[in-house]
Amino acid sequence: MTPDDALNEILLTAEGHADPYSRYRFLHDNAPAHRAPDGTLFLSGFADCHEVLRHESFGKAEGFLQRSDRTSADSSITLEDPNARTMLDLNPPDHTRIRGLVSRAFTPRRMKNLTPHIEALAEECFDTIAEMGEVDLLEAVGFPLPVAVIGDLVGVPRADWAKFRSLVTSSAMSIEPTATPEELETASESAAEIYLYFLDLVAKKRADPADDLLSAMLMESDGDQDSLSESEAIINAMLMFAAGFETTTNLIGNGMAALLVQPDAVAELREQPDLVGSAVEEMLRFDSPVQLDARSVLVPAQIAGVDLDVGANVVTLLGAANRDPTQFTEPERFDIHRDEGPPMSFGSGIHYCLGANLARVEGRTVVAGLLRRFSSIELSGPLVNRQRLTLRGYEAVPIKVTVNS
Ligand code: HEM
Repeated sequence: MTPDDALNEILLTAEGHADPYSRYRFLHDNAPAHRAPDGTLFLSGFADCHEVLRHESFGKAEGFLQRSDRTSADSSITLEDPNARTMLDLNPPDHTRIRGLVSRAFTPRRMKNLTPHIEALAEECFDTIAEMGEVDLLEAVGFPLPVAVIGDLVGVPRADWAKFRSLVTSSAMSIEPTATPEELETASESAAEIYLYFLDLVAKKRADPADDLLSAMLMESDGDQDSLSESEAIINAMLMFAAGFETTTNLIGNGMAALLVQPDAVAELREQPDLVGSAVEEMLRFDSPVQLDARSVLVPAQIAGVDLDVGANVVTLLGAANRDPTQFTEPERFDIHRDEGPPMSFGSGIHYCLGANLARVEGRTVVAGLLRRFSSIELSGPLVNRQRLTLRGYEAVPIKVTVNS
């Protein structure tokens, strides 16, 4: 096998999607910084990924107008708005402005009230699992819990949550390396449908503001030049909403799937519930819900001894960084005691995940709650991987439980 073979398998084949990890190991051993024929640099080492994500020579691909280039006509919202980029796709100074304003709406008070709310929502999901005995963990809690948490936080009415699972899954296909032209077309139709939904929701929030993130962001959008434009408020509220469950669903699914095949770890976690924090960190490391991230070279740079020109693409393989043997001892081992620093799963630098703490609280609540509520939890059917790499997860995680008496 050559490094190009390994990368092609990881990015493009069903076998590589099912098991990227043996191919990552090959890259660690043979080509931790590899330049593909098209010039893209693929990094699998933890330190190299860390440096790229943190260094200002690297950023999001340019090629779209920054705010400073806009005219006053840009304030109108259209579906084709070329300036409508979420914070995820922007570089400073626009990224700094938008992230600052969105974080401001994400207030400590709103966050503080969230833990008991998350626990109550999780108990509702566990009630359903208890009644049914055998369920798909993703259907029963992996999707409904994160969507309820972020739905309430952003201000999306409960009656509308269910339809977003397929819409977000379909629109997120746009970031997968295997996406076909038809899938990209469907992804953009789904994104447009979500956008139209949010346009309508904005009109309702303007008429009747509530104590939620979207109303708060719209208030920010009524401010001066340094504030959010209305289209920025909408697309960033959409980002928060979508990023808030697709990934967390997979943290719960991938993490529990890894845990349940380790009966000793399950027993230990039952005896020492305080280990849940490090267990969730290990779940994030072991089978990261986000497997890769990318940056463009903004000024000539060198990384891992490779010289890079402006515009070159660099892919940071986060899932591989989490298995780097120079960073994690015996990286293939799932160890709920591991204490070797945080994994790369939430990225790093200025785009470090804004919802990392929220996702961690949700993960801990679900893992601790499942073990508390059920005296046994077993995988009850085959695990089928979704054919996706960037947002890695299972189609379903079938489990069978016995209720604690
Ligand atoms: C286990 C769950 C999650 C994982 C693995 C995850 C992963 C990530 C990663 C890797 C990035 C960096 C992307 C980049 O550098 O280009 C990111 C950014 C982001 N995440 Fe998450 N995320 C999770 C949950 C959440 C939740 C619950 C929210 C919402 C509350 C959220 C909101 C965001 C936002 C808004 C950004 C963009 C930040 C920026 O560009 O400055 N994420 N996430």
